[in-house]
Amino acid sequence: GLAATPIALSAGCAAGPSNPAQPSPAGASSRPLPIPPLATATTDAAGTRHFALSAGAGNSEILAGKSTATWGFNGSMLGPTIRARRGESVAFTIDNDLPEATTVHWHGMHVPARFDGGPHQTIELGARWEPGWTVNQPGATLWYHPHPHGSTEKHVYRGLAGLFLVDDEVTDAVDLPKTYGVDDIPLIIQDKRFTADGALDESDPTDIGLLGDTIVTNGITGAHLSVSTEKVRLRILNGSSGRMYNLGFSDDREFHLVASDGGLLTAPVPLTRVRLSPGERAEIVVAVNGSNTLLRAMPYEDNAGLDRGDAAAFGVQDSFDILELRAGKNPTASAALPASLATIARLDPAAAAAERSFELQWFMINGAQMDMNRIDFSPTVDTTEVWTVRNVDDWPHNFHVHDVQFQIIDIDGSPPPPALAGWKDTVYTPPGVRFRLALRFTEYSDPTYPYMYHCHLLLHEDQGMMGQFLVLEPGQRPTPMTMDMTMT
Ligand code: C2O
Ligand code: CU
Ligand code: CU
Repeated sequence: GLAATPIALSAGCAAGPSNPAQPSPAGASSRPLPIPPLATATTDAAGTRHFALSAGAGNSEILAGKSTATWGFNGSMLGPTIRARRGESVAFTIDNDLPEATTVHWHGMHVPARFDGGPHQTIELGARWEPGWTVNQPGATLWYHPHPHGSTEKHVYRGLAGLFLVDDEVTDAVDLPKTYGVDDIPLIIQDKRFTADGALDESDPTDIGLLGDTIVTNGITGAHLSVSTEKVRLRILNGSSGRMYNLGFSDDREFHLVASDGGLLTAPVPLTRVRLSPGERAEIVVAVNGSNTLLRAMPYEDNAGLDRGDAAAFGVQDSFDILELRAGKNPTASAALPASLATIARLDPAAAAAERSFELQWFMINGAQMDMNRIDFSPTVDTTEVWTVRNVDDWPHNFHVHDVQFQIIDIDGSPPPPALAGWKDTVYTPPGVRFRLALRFTEYSDPTYPYMYHCHLLLHEDQGMMGQFLVLEPGQRPTPMTMDMTMT
């Protein structure tokens, strides 16, 4: 594995050009982008790869020269990058050394429901959880984070998040930059606010939750990356609570989107902006040979479908510098982008066994708040369903489903743009717009443990904008687990 880039101390902060509150990555205070280390695993006689994670508290130098109390996996903040191949069996020991109960959810991963790490799989303090499954889905950039009932925002904001990369024959064979930490760079983007003494400010200032004025990339502000190759692949995760990002480069250079949440697109999509709402991922390839550039969050040209006042209040008109890319002197040649990437078999909406609709409104879905002891519906394993999702608020919401990667059939009746035509597990749903999704439930059924669907703006999720479903065998009777929800 690769060690994290050592973090250099530096004094002072230069004011950034695009936002006075944000130190410029190009300024004197810039530090090298830390690369989360790859998690090490031991392989047993049966070939299962065993990973160990422990969640605990520590101190991190998010701001240059300042110490901030944070939470992390196997370290003070964020977590190692887990990497596994399709077909491989993985097993985890997860120790909770935090001062309170948590869970660990595998966002985007197709896992048995009892190992999904949702609010039903509580790891009490001092306890250990041991999930395991066989990876069976296309190569993709997934992530892991806590999902405790009502406290997900706080746990993620304090630093608990890591990437989970899945490889397969297709991602092996495709000619994209793929040397981790060299030309294949993980990028976890989050926004935070700090008190004067450098502590995390945890007050919720808006109806979309913790909206930070400082961008933190892989755990630090003001990051730069010295690029030694002509092209670099950025695996970008929006790991923020509620902030949405309209990402592009400071010189508006073109880049190519090569993968969305659930894996490679059919072909590279040339873009100058890519949008990520909380929880979504994008893999992009950008040429840096010869000239430095800045990855930047830009104002949404269309206010993200919000009215102007809400757009301002919810931060979608802000701009921030995220990462400076510094071009090396004699870069190593990178291959030309392949014309095609992956084959995506289209799910057939006409074959849907069930159609369901979801209205997102006022911390509720279909007028109901999350109830740990209510199963909202139960799809049958090995069937396809069509879900219609509409945000009927004037607030921003998005929609995330556990267990599956879905396909967007249409958006207000029109086919999705190429950037949204691949596998997705989370989609931004602007006010008033109707999304039709095709989902196929496969392999795992369980009458007892549910999967979740929810808004991934973490305050909304915590406030109850979430529901649960069981995946059942045909004719199977549900026997849902119950939780004692009495507050102690
Ligand atoms: Cu990323 Cu239910 O979560
Ligand atoms: Cu998830
Ligand atoms: Cu929401």
